[in-house]
Amino acid sequence: MSVNLKGKSLLTLKDFSKEEIYYLIDLAAELKEKKKNGIFEKNMKNKNIALIFEKPSTRTRCAFTVACNDEGAHPEYLSKNDIQLGHKESVEDTARVLGRMFDGIEFRGFSQEVVEKLAKYSGVPVWNGLTDDDHPTQVLADFLTIREHLGKLEGIKFVYVGDGRNNMSNALMIGCAKAGVNFTVASPKELWPKSDILNICKKFSEESGAEINVTDNKFDAVKNADVIYTDVWCSMGEENKSEERIKLLSPYQVNNELIKASENEKVLFMHCLPAVKGKEVTEDVFESKYSVVFDEAENRMHTIKAVMVASIRG
Ligand code: CP
Ligand code: NVA
Repeated sequence: MSVNLKGKSLLTLKDFSKEEIYYLIDLAAELKEKKKNGIFEKNMKNKNIALIFEKPSTRTRCAFTVACNDEGAHPEYLSKNDIQLGHKESVEDTARVLGRMFDGIEFRGFSQEVVEKLAKYSGVPVWNGLTDDDHPTQVLADFLTIREHLGKLEGIKFVYVGDGRNNMSNALMIGCAKAGVNFTVASPKELWPKSDILNICKKFSEESGAEINVTDNKFDAVKNADVIYTDVWCSMGEENKSEERIKLLSPYQVNNELIKASENEKVLFMHCLPAVKGKEVTEDVFESKYSVVFDEAENRMHTIKAVMVASIRG
């Protein structure tokens, strides 16, 4: 069955099949190669794309902007201070207004419910650029990066170390469960994934063949890992939790000892960035030969481009 994503929003990878996920990674690789060869097909010529940001961003904002420019679309950046969303106007009304003018909407903010409402009421594709619960476009970039470095994705051992209930942990667990990637979260018990998301992922994994594990033993977790991934200990909006997180997560720092415990000389170190060096990862691991963090950052653009092109071009 051929994949057709025309008109489809990307709110979470829960809504995407394994075939659709691999299709987007393949399309991103194809568009990346074309750009390297100076080929620009302008698949989004004359389209207008709204970029709503309630939270700050470097990679996501720049990736959407550059991808729009490469494909012939006009990106319009709207910070929370520029529009009325949820303040002077309901999300439903803003969605209907934007849907009359724009061909697609990116949203980064706090609430997953808001991005879902934007999709429901705007009538145009909506792409989740990060919420408190999810970060699906980051996962696509990470998957492309893994495939480029390891030559495969399905069946590898992916270990996430750190805050097991943040947006990245959720998003990676969903993506891995769908794509047939064996996924382990190593985290203190206080920060284990919530049971609802864990149960959903276990269901997905029955279909894809992925193994999903949660442990507080980081050394057991990383043994034979192909990928060791971490993220900040305090996500955007949680700055007041710094003290308790440092206490809980300091034993889960990704350092040379943990990398060695993988017993895999080819293990990849990954991080969605921005990183707080000296906290979740040491400077030497960040700068080491294992680290592919800037490939991930570049691939945000190629994968976000693929997501937009797939839902607009068809
Ligand atoms: N990884 C990521 O989403 O980065 P930004 O917060 O800079 O967009
Ligand atoms: N968990 C992080 C991811 C940043 C890309 C945050 O939400 O701040």
